[in-house]
Amino acid sequence: MAKMNFGGVEENVVTREEFPLAKAQETLKDETIAVLGYGVQGPGQALNLRDNGFNVIVGQRKNSKSWDKAVADGWVPGETLFELEEACEKATIIQYLLSDAGQISLWPTVKKHLTPGKALYFSHGFAVTYKERTGIIPPEDVDVILVAPKGSGTSLRRMFLEGRGLNSSFAIFQDATGKAKDRVVALGIGVGSGYLFETTFKREVYSDLTGERGTLMGAIQGIFAAQYEVLRKNGHTPSEAFNETVEELTQSLMPLVAENGMDWMYANCSTTAQRGALDWWKKFRDATQPVFEELYSEVAAGNEAQRSIDSNSKSDYRVKLEGELKELHDSEMWKAGATVRQLRPENNG
Ligand SMILES: NC(=O)c1ccc[n+]([C@@H]2O[C@H](COP(=O)([O-])OP(=O)(O)OC[C@H]3O[C@@H](n4cnc5c(N)ncnc54)[C@H](OP(=O)(O)O)[C@@H]3O)[C@@H](O)[C@H]2O)c1
Repeated sequence: MAKMNFGGVEENVVTREEFPLAKAQETLKDETIAVLGYGVQGPGQALNLRDNGFNVIVGQRKNSKSWDKAVADGWVPGETLFELEEACEKATIIQYLLSDAGQISLWPTVKKHLTPGKALYFSHGFAVTYKERTGIIPPEDVDVILVAPKGSGTSLRRMFLEGRGLNSSFAIFQDATGKAKDRVVALGIGVGSGYLFETTFKREVYSDLTGERGTLMGAIQGIFAAQYEVLRKNGHTPSEAFNETVEELTQSLMPLVAENGMDWMYANCSTTAQRGALDWWKKFRDATQPVFEELYSEVAAGNEAQRSIDSNSKSDYRVKLEGELKELHDSEMWKAGATVRQLRPENNG
């Protein structure tokens, strides 16, 4: 493991140069890896593992669109595709990639097949960190490990096919066999990670829940909506408001920020934009910091986890969710966005 300097702070990372695919294949040559669940993360990880030459099978409940998708992706029923319990039985490593709510309901079945020496693998620290709430308490004689790709399963697969890799974090909750470290790093390389950085289950879930509620999804939509509304209230048209709020950000600025950083962006914009951005960013930081503090303490107290367990296990969950998603879909801002996207030259002749 190499030490890397992140802005003055040293952290452990594992790169593909240091732990090449051949070493990962050698490490896992006697293992049967069962990927349980063929939702979003399941396909990305299972297909990358398969294409990387590992011995991998998929466990998925039958009579479901996900089963059909697995068949369409080339998994063969009875050979590489099984019902969940059968896959657990065959596996030496169980990659538990059901939805977080699904993991709670299938747990008694998975637990039954966690015989000594097997490994239980997660892509989220949720189930184990909040074990009093989820009831997922792994037996002491199995390895409990985590690789959490920092992005969607769709991106994991897409980037793999492009010869790139998505960064992942990895963690060990329990090392029963003395092999947990090699197993987790080999799996991280096998699923197509670019590099792996070290974390714990708890830090993974706290940062993940904060990030998705914060700048990755919750806060960003909140800031978009606030700016859009102010522009509209002041007489700007939907296309102008959308372009100045979202389109310019996603199409022009963010790709440059991804390449060079926001510091570069600030140094390479007009002097007018530069003056304004320098003057205003700290006001936005100060205005939102209390909300982020509240968010983090709700996550750390387990309240966010409980809210999601409670709401996702209600029978009318889907209906309520669809109502909330419709509100967003039907908002003027995102309807204007659909038109703006349609007008992009690549979609318009
Ligand atoms: N989404 C991502 O890209 C992403 C990124 C990083 C980490 N993760 C983590 O990866 C794990 C999987 O997430 P995901 O987004 O891929 O989940 P998802 O798409 O919601 O996964 C759904 C899978 O779980 C199965 N499932 C749900 N409830 C079930 C139940 N009660 N019994 C049996 N099967 C059930 C579904 O089967 P059916 O189709 O038959 O319902 C499907 O195969 C989670 O821990 C998540 O936090 C996800």
